[in-house]
Amino acid sequence: MATEYVHGYAAQEAARLIDQASTLTDLLHFDTSYPAGSLVLEAGCGVGAQTVALAARSPQATFVSVDISPVSLRRAKARVEEAGLRNVTFQETDILSLPFSEAHFDHAFVCFVLEHLARPEKALDQVRCVLKPRGTLTVIEGDHGSAYFHPDSEFARQAIQCLVDLQRHAGGDALIGRRLYPLLAQAGVRDVRVSPRMVYVDASRPALVDGFIRKTFTAMVEGVGEQAIREGLIEAESWRKGIRDLCRTAEADGTFCYTFFKAIGVK
Ligand SMILES: C[S@@+](CC[C@H](N)C(=O)[O-])C[C@H]1O[C@@H](n2cnc3c(N)ncnc32)[C@H](O)[C@@H]1O
Repeated sequence: MATEYVHGYAAQEAARLIDQASTLTDLLHFDTSYPAGSLVLEAGCGVGAQTVALAARSPQATFVSVDISPVSLRRAKARVEEAGLRNVTFQETDILSLPFSEAHFDHAFVCFVLEHLARPEKALDQVRCVLKPRGTLTVIEGDHGSAYFHPDSEFARQAIQCLVDLQRHAGGDALIGRRLYPLLAQAGVRDVRVSPRMVYVDASRPALVDGFIRKTFTAMVEGVGEQAIREGLIEAESWRKGIRDLCRTAEADGTFCYTFFKAIGVK
């Protein structure tokens, strides 16, 4: 794990991950489905925000969803039960030392996890090892360098940069989306295809204005405010203006773009 998970495990962050997943489900998962009878590893399931979408879309596949955080796993379990899904089991496990035998899983799925790891290569190596030959590996990551918006704001860009810097100090990489192809290829994954998934938001898409600009992206940046100010990365007043200007993009004449990267390859 990165020395310190930059988003933390507070209830507010759990809610943000769930808002993020429900807002982005179609964009990220429309082409994710696993055949009946297959066994799928979800590594770094967190509070189960993606788990529900995965398990619901592949009701006849079985998922083993693992995370290093017992608190998140408890929330994930509750969420999956609430959704009435019975094809998921949970396990507390470090992705850097997976306790499964070689070639145990038919497929594997990793979402928003590599960005927090100091050694994403090692995690990919572990996941690849527990995959059967010809099994698929799907990885989804964001890239905060892909965020641009109207009205543009130097303060908003500074606030986003604080998150990028804090994540880097914690050993992670908030710009990892652009690195997925080389990371997977270097891990020995074959036939890697990366598809950028752009979220574009304006007032004609009110669900995304609220679900993405406010509750996903701005909430994520806002979550590191105290730490960024405490560590001297930004003045409190500039931070306040940065968050104000990110919120400003959610007004009637604002627009916002962000790109996620989804990579799929084969062992
Ligand atoms: C941003 S959350 C993403 C959770 C989920 N995949 C989603 O998309 O909502 C990152 C998750 O990775 C987990 N994580 C970080 N380092 C880990 C490690 N070494 N092994 C397993 N899980 C890890 C964290 O506990 C956290 O739940």
